Amino acid sequence: MKRTLTAIALGAAASTVAMAQTAPNAVSFGEYGQIEESLTGVAGDPAAGLEIMVTRGKGNCIACHQVTALEDYPFHGEVGPSLDGAGDRWTEADLRGIVANAKMTFPDSIMPAFYKVEGFVRAGDAYTGKAAEGALDPLLTAQEIEDVVAYLMTLDQYYD
Ligand code: HEC
Repeated sequence: MKRTLTAIALGAAASTVAMAQTAPNAVSFGEYGQIEESLTGVAGDPAAGLEIMVTRGKGNCIACHQVTALEDYPFHGEVGPSLDGAGDRWTEADLRGIVANAKMTFPDSIMPAFYKVEGFVRAGDAYTGKAAEGALDPLLTAQEIEDVVAYLMTLDQYYD
């Protein structure tokens, strides 16, 4: 009985979160590519954001970015700039926009858009006209974007 009640409570909490989310194709970007409003209305968890940033198959941000606070994790790449001080030089809204779709801030960026489901050139289209149909899942969920942004906001130190 107790277990059933817990399951019902969890289900209710999950659907509340889902309802409050902004869908990838409903995100509104500002003039500089920033996103002013939280995608979920739920504060990001910086510890969860750290895990996403260092996990292949999630953010895998350290494949391209050096971060001194994450130097214990292997495979740092330097395709992108160091993220040291990112929480100092960008606002939370700027960082949310960069992580969701970096091309709105840096038009020719090779950084993947982590919260985007349409507007891709789908492999197959040009050749067969048989590319996958329907919506793709974004690389990160709305809450994962918020978690990563919360972690980036902690990176307010510069090292030399
Ligand atoms: C494929 C490589 C690649 C990956 C993966 C990547 N980025 Fe980037 N990122 C870049 C590049 C390159 C830039 C520089 C902007 C540009 O393209 O002109 C950049 C820029 C940024 C910036 C602004 C840099 C500054 O000046 O402070 C932030 C913040 C950022 N990335 C965060 C992230 C986060 C967080 C992730 C993981 C969720 C991530 N990036 C994954 C390549 C990458």
